[in-house]
Amino acid sequence: MKFTLHTAEQARKLKKSHDVETRAEESTFVFARNFFKNPRMLGSVIPSSRYLVTQLLRDVDWQRARVIVELGPGVGTISREILKRMRPDAVLVVFEINDEFVKHLRQNFHDPRLRVQHRSGAEVVEALRELGLGKADYAIAGIPFSIMTDEDRMSVLRNCREALVQGGSMLVYQFSSKVRADLEKLYGRVHRQFEPRNILPAHVFHCVKE
Ligand SMILES: C[S@@+](CC[C@H](N)C(=O)[O-])C[C@H]1O[C@@H](n2cnc3c(N)ncnc32)[C@H](O)[C@@H]1O
Repeated sequence: MKFTLHTAEQARKLKKSHDVETRAEESTFVFARNFFKNPRMLGSVIPSSRYLVTQLLRDVDWQRARVIVELGPGVGTISREILKRMRPDAVLVVFEINDEFVKHLRQNFHDPRLRVQHRSGAEVVEALRELGLGKADYAIAGIPFSIMTDEDRMSVLRNCREALVQGGSMLVYQFSSKVRADLEKLYGRVHRQFEPRNILPAHVFHCVKE
């Protein structure tokens, strides 16, 4: 039989990486369970892949980003990566309508820069005003726009634009390109990228409020 001796430091690192993996698995399970309860609300059975998250956040200017809003954080897959990259004095406001995800975010994230809002992303303008934060530099959204009514989709998108500073950016990731036409109406130019390694392959749209 082969024994491995670990120093206290090695054992601590192993435990930490095991804890991180366990938390990630639990989050994926919470996400999938909620998909089967309400597929239309989530639009995806598993959280975004690291490929999509990297692609989505690639062009963010982290020095400029003081206020970031995220619509539909789910179990916080993208929020965690935003918090890792964000300035220490920046604020991330996330809008989530699923009760269990809100609970999960509040229990698992203890970063004082994160504000969890248990309300629709359609209320972004009022929420920023109530929090006394002014306008956002970035709005990031992965809510299922393609299965919303045209009216609801446009209302959320208009509010996000209204919530942005001049020069601010809207980043949208979606499995369908249906939202593109509305983004073009609101922003004029839309830059599109594609990430095939996500389940499902996803479009990333980037628009600037000029
Ligand atoms: C495709 S999941 C994305 C989850 C996570 N951001 C990720 O990338 O793994 C969409 C999320 O949007 C949430 N959602 C749907 N409609 C919403 C709305 N109007 N406002 C805020 N969140 C919403 C759902 O509950 C779900 O968590």
